[in-house]
Amino acid sequence: MEELEKIEQEIKEALETAKSKEALEKIRIAYLGRSGKLTAILRSLKDFSVEERRKTGAAANKLRTEIEKVLDEKEKKVIGKEGGRGEDITLLVLPKDKVYFGSLHPLTIVGRDIKKIFTSMNFSVAEGPEAETEYYNFDALNIPANHPAREMWDTFWVKSQTDAKDGKNLLMRTHTSPVQIRFMEKHKPPFAIIAPGRVFRYEATDSSHEINFHQVEGLAVDKKISLANLKFVVEEFFSRFFEEKLSFRFRPSYFPFVEPGVEVDIKLPGEEKWLEVMGAGMVHKRVLEGVRIDSEKWQGFAFGMGVERLAMIKYGIPDIRLFYSGDLRFIKQF
Ligand code: PHE
Repeated sequence: MEELEKIEQEIKEALETAKSKEALEKIRIAYLGRSGKLTAILRSLKDFSVEERRKTGAAANKLRTEIEKVLDEKEKKVIGKEGGRGEDITLLVLPKDKVYFGSLHPLTIVGRDIKKIFTSMNFSVAEGPEAETEYYNFDALNIPANHPAREMWDTFWVKSQTDAKDGKNLLMRTHTSPVQIRFMEKHKPPFAIIAPGRVFRYEATDSSHEINFHQVEGLAVDKKISLANLKFVVEEFFSRFFEEKLSFRFRPSYFPFVEPGVEVDIKLPGEEKWLEVMGAGMVHKRVLEGVRIDSEKWQGFAFGMGVERLAMIKYGIPDIRLFYSGDLRFIKQF
């Protein structure tokens, strides 16, 4: 019993000063471990008389239970302070300024905004492959081989790959317009779709050019569709996207798959500069006929715009290469 009282005193003192997980573990080993002091007493009980065994045994067991309880409690507190993994995770103390709660990539945010606006105007979302055939990327869009218009799109050709169906070469799509063709082959008008996706251009990169970027294509085919419908949808979209009162300019332009073709410019309030944001036009008769849509009965408008460009204008991002830099200082701002 004397020995027990001594041990109790020792442990109490040790527990007072123990401030770390390691220190507490040392105490546990020194007293409760296999060759610990209290364990030794409990083991030696068998040599005592029945009377002594009962008395000392009860006291020793009680002390052991108490020590275990105090050790457990202390440990939880210490673990909370050290930021380790405790049983009670609410004890974890995480310094707020050191914890980075994830955010969305600006292209994700802008992509979602674009989809939301168009779906609210009854457009559906369609998709097509990134590795495309020459037929869908060019021929079906009224851009035959050797036509000078092919030079509008710097192309990555896929080596020694041919599409089994039409024997045409594969390439990385240079725009999302091939999705127009793929969709029209499978659906009867009327319809209105957007087709968001990644596109590829074989060109030198600089602050406004990347070899891969994103576009959103638009296509609406119906009876009596005119440029006026295109103008309304485009102005509605950009006004809602930028949440500003914008000025618009529709400039005549040329794309082989539309006639007439236009380029859309916007001007933000208080700004001097017109910004080119979209190519568009009325779907070319030859494109409609290629997918067996009667161009006497049906008309359509189409448009295509760069997603990075819209994000750059909206957030004042100076360099397109930042989107793919993987630089957290950039991403964390959104
Ligand atoms: N595909 C064209 C481009 O990449 C954009 C466009 C789409 C133009 C639809 C007119 C109609 O430049």
